[in-house]
Amino acid sequence: MYLRFAVAALTLIIGGPAMADTIAIIGTGDVGGALGPEFAQQGHTIVYGSRDPGRSKVEELVERTGDLASATTPAEAAAQADIVVLAVPGLMVEEITRSLGDLSGKIIIDPTNPLERRMNRLEHAVDTSNAEIIQAAAPGAYVVKAFNTLNWKTMVDPASAGGPVSIPLVGDNGRAKDKVAELVSGMGLEPIDVGPLRDARWVEGMLILWINNRYGSKRPSFDYHLRKD
Ligand SMILES: NC(=O)c1ccc[n+]([C@@H]2O[C@H](COP(=O)([O-])OP(=O)(O)OC[C@H]3O[C@@H](n4cnc5c(N)ncnc54)[C@H](OP(=O)(O)O)[C@@H]3O)[C@@H](O)[C@H]2O)c1
Repeated sequence: MYLRFAVAALTLIIGGPAMADTIAIIGTGDVGGALGPEFAQQGHTIVYGSRDPGRSKVEELVERTGDLASATTPAEAAAQADIVVLAVPGLMVEEITRSLGDLSGKIIIDPTNPLERRMNRLEHAVDTSNAEIIQAAAPGAYVVKAFNTLNWKTMVDPASAGGPVSIPLVGDNGRAKDKVAELVSGMGLEPIDVGPLRDARWVEGMLILWINNRYGSKRPSFDYHLRKD
């Protein structure tokens, strides 16, 4: 919380973040609606990419995000942005990434989880990981997996977890990971670089373990967060 206020205060004093970016948030559901306003508070310009940017729910989201926010189609939003967040259904990432046009040189933040219901369980639905699928669909972009391990409510209120919450980051480009780490820190969360993109499948697996114990299981449910040493 303290960190969040410190960042907001600094932003007011110096008139903006060290480097204000345009961030496209593709998808206006729970995760898009949580991350957009958080990044806007850090002084970035937010453009939502929605299949229906004119509907009232999206207009309300733009309004609560702030003066610099807008909404358009997913491809137009991505074209304007330095950073693209794919806050979309986990089984659609390849199709949606391809539909966004050339993403070369942009950072893609991937908070998705490829979940598929099989019998009474949710399973990891791909052989590799969504992050690697996105990277293959946008080979010139810098993919960083982040935010997939925690509920959107904890993203916007880390104090509700009862202590510092760390966000594992995986990706193959150090500068892209540093940039995403800045956004994470600005939300009052702690970034931890846990490895290259090929480790995304293990980070995606964290959610499978949690969700299958939380819902539809007779075992006691639990919550967990990584915490830096
Ligand atoms: N919910 C969480 O707490 C949470 C936490 C961590 C990670 N995640 C992961 O983050 C991703 C987004 O989760 P979410 O909870 O924000 O999902 P959601 O509420 O269902 O929102 C997904 C958004 O994607 C857009 N979209 C684009 N193409 C779509 C299509 N064909 N069908 C449906 N929606 C489409 C929609 O926005 P428009 O209608 O504006 O196009 C929709 O609102 C998922 O992969 C999820 O596993 C979720």
